[in-house]
Amino acid sequence: MNVIGIETSCDETSVAVISNGKLTSNLISSQHFHVDYGGVVPELSSRAHLQIVVPLLKKALHESKLDIQDIDLVTATAGPGLIGALLVGFTFAKSLAYSLKKNFIPVNHVEGHIFSGFLMEDKPVFPYLCLVVSGGHTLLLIVNSDYDIIKLGSTLDDAVGEAFDKVSKLLGLGYPGGPQIQRIAENQNSDFVDFPVAQCKNEYDFSFSGLKTSVIRFIQKNYGKVENIPADHIPLIAASFQKAAVKALTKNVEKALNNFEIKTLSLVGGVAANKLLRDEFVKLASQFNKKLVIPSLEFCGDNAAMIAYRGLKLFEYLQNFGNKHDYFMNQNAYPNLNGNTFIRSL
Ligand code: KG4
Ligand code: ZN
Repeated sequence: MNVIGIETSCDETSVAVISNGKLTSNLISSQHFHVDYGGVVPELSSRAHLQIVVPLLKKALHESKLDIQDIDLVTATAGPGLIGALLVGFTFAKSLAYSLKKNFIPVNHVEGHIFSGFLMEDKPVFPYLCLVVSGGHTLLLIVNSDYDIIKLGSTLDDAVGEAFDKVSKLLGLGYPGGPQIQRIAENQNSDFVDFPVAQCKNEYDFSFSGLKTSVIRFIQKNYGKVENIPADHIPLIAASFQKAAVKALTKNVEKALNNFEIKTLSLVGGVAANKLLRDEFVKLASQFNKKLVIPSLEFCGDNAAMIAYRGLKLFEYLQNFGNKHDYFMNQNAYPNLNGNTFIRSL
């Protein structure tokens, strides 16, 4: 069974191949030119996907020693994401499947991240507690099986990656903000400012817009404007922000670890690259005596390996149970750019 995965939901074009259960290629082309604009420009993103998706597919097939005719299943991200960007990969993948007379499976991007731990040698064991942290999402979930995902909480406003990006921009550190904040905050005093951690009505929800506002207020109150911040204070503010953002995530994870019986703890998504957050997860896993699975960096940010993996699981579901689940009921209505999902509320 040879599966192609295509991911174009934001600013990474990625094509992957899973051949007989083994990942044989996972090519990721990042659109670095957005740096000049301080954030992703959707139209430019779509155009860049369009230029690179076919060459990437050819290269992925070559790396996998496969011919296009050897492909049995085509999968692509259906949503959520930038609409124009999604349409490029989705339409290309669907047309490819149609022309090859092969099956096509649309994949929810967040579900891709949720199961990305299975791309590792040491895999999660169900049920597992999963924190999804990216530029667009912040979700705490209990994953009971491949087809049963319970949402405990999510962000009420900004995603945590978005908060990193906005604070980085505010401090003049550039885009994407996560890696910049991490770099400048390293070995700095994170007690310089005691930024608040939001308390939400649902104890598993998150909120990051207040934290961002606190950073703005702190700057206004103490320096007047950003330009007046002494250079040696920037790393201290960044470190204090990073500490508060990580605390906001781990406090909910700790609560869930106390309240639910789970076998594994998993941290996924672009922000899972953050060293402080990873270190805190190592501590929590050890404290609660749980197995820990954090994907390697290649599988934390947006990648097509996770889409191919999830697409294959959805294909297996169709074969075993038919298309009765809501996820597949609207197949004809695809592209559903919000992305159908197996995630349900508690
Ligand atoms: O999963 P991802 O590649 O794309 C989305 O689906 O959003 O995540 C991108 C996000 C960006 O907000 C970026 O700033 C953040 O992940 N990020 C980090 C780090 N590396 C990437 N945030 C904190 N620390 C990092 N080291
Ligand atoms: Zn993502």
